[in-house]
Amino acid sequence: MSKSDFSDVLAKIPYGVSVVTMGRGGVKVENGLTVSWMSQVSFNPPMLMVVVDKLHYSVDLLRSTKNFCVNLLGEDQTALAGRFAKQATNRDDKLAEVAQRPAESGAAILTDAVAYFDCEVASITEAGDHLVVIGKIEDAAVLNDRAPLTTASGLRYRKG
Ligand SMILES: Cc1cc2nc3c(=O)[nH]c(=O)nc-3n(C[C@H](O)[C@H](O)[C@H](O)COP(=O)(O)O)c2cc1C
Repeated sequence: MSKSDFSDVLAKIPYGVSVVTMGRGGVKVENGLTVSWMSQVSFNPPMLMVVVDKLHYSVDLLRSTKNFCVNLLGEDQTALAGRFAKQATNRDDKLAEVAQRPAESGAAILTDAVAYFDCEVASITEAGDHLVVIGKIEDAAVLNDRAPLTTASGLRYRKG
């Protein structure tokens, strides 16, 4: 096996699937992207990380607004995961017509998600071609009891 490509092995790691939103509602500087590389990293204070490709449009917004909201999707929300996995363009607003309300931070809470975590960016660290964005959880809630969407559904974060 090539030492530089462990993709078949890495594909065995199970993940939840979330939409991470960022920006301030109302101003046209908001976005969201589908993320599977997400995990809790601290109990005290409660913190989590999301891992974002350095080249994604969302990176500038994360750096400038310093907040984000992780929305855990339900198992019936594959289409929403697909919508937010499309690259942001000036023409399309991925958040248009998606049920939402602003979190304390201003980022969008997707009100049909299973749960959300509203976070303040604590640090951003480089890891190869991605950035590890650690957030301190400022607010969180379970929105309903649906089962969460996971990569067991066949969804997968593929390179490029
Ligand atoms: C199931 C799935 C999981 C994904 N997980 C991640 C992830 O953890 N980190 C990431 O940077 N991109 C991930 N992506 C890709 C982004 O959602 C996609 O590149 C998106 O276009 C980025 O949005 P942006 O260009 O508006 O920033 C994932 C895509 C899918 C379909």
